[in-house]
Amino acid sequence: MIDLLIRHAEELLTLVGPVRPRVRAELDELGIIQDGAVAAQDGQIVAVGSTSEIEHAVEIGPATEIINAHGCVVLPGFVDPHTHLVFAGDRAEEFNRRLQGEPYLAILQAGGGILETVRATRAASEAELQHKAQIDLQAMLRHGTTTVEAKSGYGLAVEDELKLLRVVQQLQSTTPLEIVSTLLGAHTLPLEYRDRREAYVDLVIEQMIPRAAEAGLATFCDVFCEQGTFTLEETRRILRAGQAHGLQPKLHADQITANGGAQLAAEVRAISADHLDQSDDAGLRELAQVGVVGVLLPGATFFLGHGAPPTPLGRRLVDAGVAVAVASDYNPGTCPLLSMQLVIGLAAIREGLTTAQAISAATINAGHAVGRGSRIGSLEVGKQADMVVLAIPSHLHLPYRFGLNMVRDVIKRGRRVHKSGKG
Ligand code: NIG
Ligand code: FE
Repeated sequence: MIDLLIRHAEELLTLVGPVRPRVRAELDELGIIQDGAVAAQDGQIVAVGSTSEIEHAVEIGPATEIINAHGCVVLPGFVDPHTHLVFAGDRAEEFNRRLQGEPYLAILQAGGGILETVRATRAASEAELQHKAQIDLQAMLRHGTTTVEAKSGYGLAVEDELKLLRVVQQLQSTTPLEIVSTLLGAHTLPLEYRDRREAYVDLVIEQMIPRAAEAGLATFCDVFCEQGTFTLEETRRILRAGQAHGLQPKLHADQITANGGAQLAAEVRAISADHLDQSDDAGLRELAQVGVVGVLLPGATFFLGHGAPPTPLGRRLVDAGVAVAVASDYNPGTCPLLSMQLVIGLAAIREGLTTAQAISAATINAGHAVGRGSRIGSLEVGKQADMVVLAIPSHLHLPYRFGLNMVRDVIKRGRRVHKSGKG
């Protein structure tokens, strides 16, 4: 007997396809079933098809939860593969200064920006950090995110970074969302190491990475490779050290200045290269060749006030054959946005992705960007039953109704974990 049946979806977006990140024309294939249905048992999808097919194929019992998705679009739960979830305080004041024209990197250089959040985060207790992140996770869930990556990076000292990773670990037992953890000890140089760069890089390599890995507190290791933060060579050393401890590399590449980050991501076989705003075509081609997922962060580009380039980045990634994913980049400095629906809207409106490409980028490819694409990100038999019911008649409304929370129901591992007020 099945546990859950969703039926009569106006459109069921299955995202059926190969078990690897999607590229080029594959990104436009949503595998849409009209009047679709999906059944789940023990947290897994056991049947997908048209409502009439599925109603005949499965055994419905008194304990089966039935969701009528008439007039709605059903699709895989959103995967947000890049967030800086755990931090204290906010940077509204800095944002206001940026609105007056102060550049992001200049604020950081003057000891503000990330370092402002580091001060607040170091001063906060684990309980305070957890409480705040829990509220943010609830908001993410209400907006349809069912898996989220969470980076450390506002501790920038061994004990503080481990504290953040422990908070991430503890959060897992407080939320139905699935959390993937990343060590970002190399987010920027902390003030006390400003004149001792090498010593800080050594600290990350010799202490943070081994201790985080040993305690099983991180899956990935990330570096903010940028002018004024970490050089290409430092980034390479840190990512290689992470690999030696079983942490797969990710990196913040070419966000504000071009620095060869995309090429480095290809060289170290990173699972993803994120941002890429300033990457050149040669860098993008290398990502495509090696199969590194390119994570677009349209909310950050928008929030930083960066103008849209003549050829939007999303389209360049798709044309270069990069497996493109999208993420929120949720953080207090460059993107306080956490709605993947709005990220999809921005990806379509500002980054040149088609609606279907943006949806593939926020589901299956985002799953691959956190190494879980064989388990999440599409609605296929055997996959985890993570789904969202959106109160819109067609997937084309997802970017069209940008800014609106369209989520009606959220299902994680076959269980309804959120239902919007209107039901
Ligand atoms: O992904 N770029 C580096 N890290 C974040 C910003 C962090 C912050 O400003 O607090 C990002 O945009
Ligand atoms: Fe980031």
